[in-house]
Amino acid sequence: MHKLSLTFLVLVLIFINGCSVREVIVTGTNPLFIPALIDSAEHENIELVLQKGKHEFYEGVASETMGVNGNYLGPTVKLHKGQTTRITFKNNIDETTTIHGHGLHVSGDIDGGPQLAIEPNEEWTIDLPVVQEAGTSWYHPHLMGKTGKHVYAGLAGIYLIEDDNAKSLGLPQSYGVDDIPLVVQDRSFTDKKMNPYLVSHAQMMDGFRGDTLVVNGTVSPYHIVPKGWVRLRLLNASNARFYRFYLSEQKKFYKIATEGGFLNAPILMTELTMGPGERNEIMIDLANIDNVHVMAEFLAVDFEDWSFFASNTATSVVELRTDSSLVASGVLPNNLNDIAYFTQSEKDQAVTRTFRLEMDEDAMTYDMHSMFSINGKSMDMQRIDERINKGQLELWSITAEDMPHPFHMHGVSFLIQTHNGNSPQEADKGWKDTVVVTNELTEVLMRFNHIADEKTPYMYHCHILEHEDGGMMGQFTVE
Ligand code: C2O
Ligand code: CU
Ligand code: CU
Repeated sequence: MHKLSLTFLVLVLIFINGCSVREVIVTGTNPLFIPALIDSAEHENIELVLQKGKHEFYEGVASETMGVNGNYLGPTVKLHKGQTTRITFKNNIDETTTIHGHGLHVSGDIDGGPQLAIEPNEEWTIDLPVVQEAGTSWYHPHLMGKTGKHVYAGLAGIYLIEDDNAKSLGLPQSYGVDDIPLVVQDRSFTDKKMNPYLVSHAQMMDGFRGDTLVVNGTVSPYHIVPKGWVRLRLLNASNARFYRFYLSEQKKFYKIATEGGFLNAPILMTELTMGPGERNEIMIDLANIDNVHVMAEFLAVDFEDWSFFASNTATSVVELRTDSSLVASGVLPNNLNDIAYFTQSEKDQAVTRTFRLEMDEDAMTYDMHSMFSINGKSMDMQRIDERINKGQLELWSITAEDMPHPFHMHGVSFLIQTHNGNSPQEADKGWKDTVVVTNELTEVLMRFNHIADEKTPYMYHCHILEHEDGGMMGQFTVE
């Protein structure tokens, strides 16, 4: 589009909106890339090769990236509850890394945390037993101090977990057609080339944020979908950016799933806020619609005001254009799940732990790693911070300093008990593994059912990757 007409369009939009959010709705120009689907049911051994690559975010301009079986991001791996999948990760990136299964209920020795380094030209094979219900998890590197760099370069992909319930619900499940993964990231560019990952002091504090949205590696995407129900699997795989998602013209949608499974029933919504690491599935009825934009408002960090950061601009994540010659395969059922909420007598038995996420800007001068901590301690791979009994109900009370932080823990899904001082919204009453916490109390409940010993403990941490790399992380065992 001509620069002048783009400016004009923006001005018109500001005028139309007349509100504080500047909306930039640009017609999608690039077909949305859909990551390849590898169905574990059809493979004895899935090979995932971490490699360096060159990716053209903009046509004709190559950026240095990393990917899995490709130049940027990795394939979607479909896992089936009740089956064990063998996966071999091959490290061809010339740097040590690890691959963590974020959201997976697996033991510490196959969780892929910082202890499970894969050296260059080495490989790591795991037998992954899938015991959890259907949901959208993901994989990404987790090497101490290098997670931000490796994820930014493009190492990440989706684990799409299926079970009998999910298959019986009648939801859209034609991958890439009406069941669409949206890996949302922000990247920064100079002359259409992705900037290298160099983090200044200020960027350590705020987290590394780019100005351009990249969805499945595509800038300014559109996708042709059937005229009917469309299911989107949103993954915020950004290093640090929080988004408020909504649909153009404030169209309504239904949220059907959180990270670790379906909600009991669809929840009608107009907007959805997601921190780094979070996933949500939504359904949109496009039966009578020619096109709709999924929009994202970039949320800015406001260190002064806890009212969840001032918003500035909103841009199109993806334009969905309908085509009646495509067949929509699914419907929206009334009931999706039957979550076994913990009873009061179970809660009375819970072991309580308290976590405070801390930032100290001045600490940077002597030791970068003490800039970020939890309960006064910066991450130390030689120290086990918490020891948990397998099967024990745990109530974790979490608060944060200075800004909202997405708190995540390994090996489990939890249920929110209190969210930032309030009881959780209906739409958040599903199984989760990442939750945005503030200075107001957040409490989550869960049981760890898998072993993580001292050699390969689990992690809990902030999912702003610069905070995690800087030490806002702790280790725990389950035995
Ligand atoms: Cu998504 Cu400990 O990670
Ligand atoms: Cu994780
Ligand atoms: Cu943080």
